[in-house]
Amino acid sequence: MSLFEIYDLTVEYSDGTESLQGVTMNIEANEVTCLIGPAGGGKSTFLRVLNRLNDLADVKKVSGKVMFKDMNLLDPKIDVIDLRRRIGMVFARPLPLPLSLYENVAYGLRTAGERSKAKLDRAVEQALRQAQLWDEVYDRLDAPASRLSGGQQQRLCLARTLSLEPEVVLLDEPTSALDPISTAKIESSILELKERYTFIVAPHSIQQAGRIADHVAFFLQGELVEYQPASEIFTRPRDKRTEDYLQGRFG
Ligand SMILES: Nc1ncnc2c1ncn2[C@@H]1O[C@H](COP(=O)(O)OP(=O)(O)OP(=O)(O)O)[C@@H](O)[C@H]1O
Ligand SMILES: [Mg+2]
Repeated sequence: MSLFEIYDLTVEYSDGTESLQGVTMNIEANEVTCLIGPAGGGKSTFLRVLNRLNDLADVKKVSGKVMFKDMNLLDPKIDVIDLRRRIGMVFARPLPLPLSLYENVAYGLRTAGERSKAKLDRAVEQALRQAQLWDEVYDRLDAPASRLSGGQQQRLCLARTLSLEPEVVLLDEPTSALDPISTAKIESSILELKERYTFIVAPHSIQQAGRIADHVAFFLQGELVEYQPASEIFTRPRDKRTEDYLQGRFG
């Protein structure tokens, strides 16, 4: 069984835009799945559905089925707070809380009721190591997060998500605003951590998908045009539109 089994997912915004049309795909555990395609293709909309952030957007209608294990994520009765602990998300622009580095990473665990200083210390260190930030910040954990560079802030946001040990991490163009060193660190932490987590990423470029993806889904104007193992789609795309996109003919 796949971790996600998605059938005929259709999302329509209240202005009538159909941003996803009948998307059917399975997503495997412990892999990196990349969503690629030109602007407006539906990548962010798709990611938002997976942790029910679409609840907050201007969505008129969502139909189909999004099975995560035995749970249909479109079921209105789902506990979204619990869901967002199990499926975390990192956005394009780092948005640390106006707190210290330590408190940013400890925040989720504290909110969940963890009081043990020793456990929090351990979890904070582990998450910062996993996000490849520890070596740069271990001696100033009490400094405000706002003092970090953009790339460090984004790794802090990744650490914050990882501290809750989610099952799935969604990343929407996580490195689009970052320097090359932070970008490389985020890519390498994704690759190192995929044995423990499942990553679904809208990468900031096709090249990035090439470096990290196991599977690639190509979205064009709300349609899932092609979905293949990365090695297949990059060498032998089946659809002419995928080939054109990969060769830089549009988008
Ligand atoms: N809140 C919204 N209200 C109305 N339409 C929206 C909203 N958000 C997205 N859309 C529309 O849905 C479609 C898909 O947008 P989405 O942001 O999912 O694409 P994307 O593939 O993430 O694009 P990008 O590469 O630019 O990030 C677009 O036509 C977009 O205009
Ligand atoms: Mg987007």
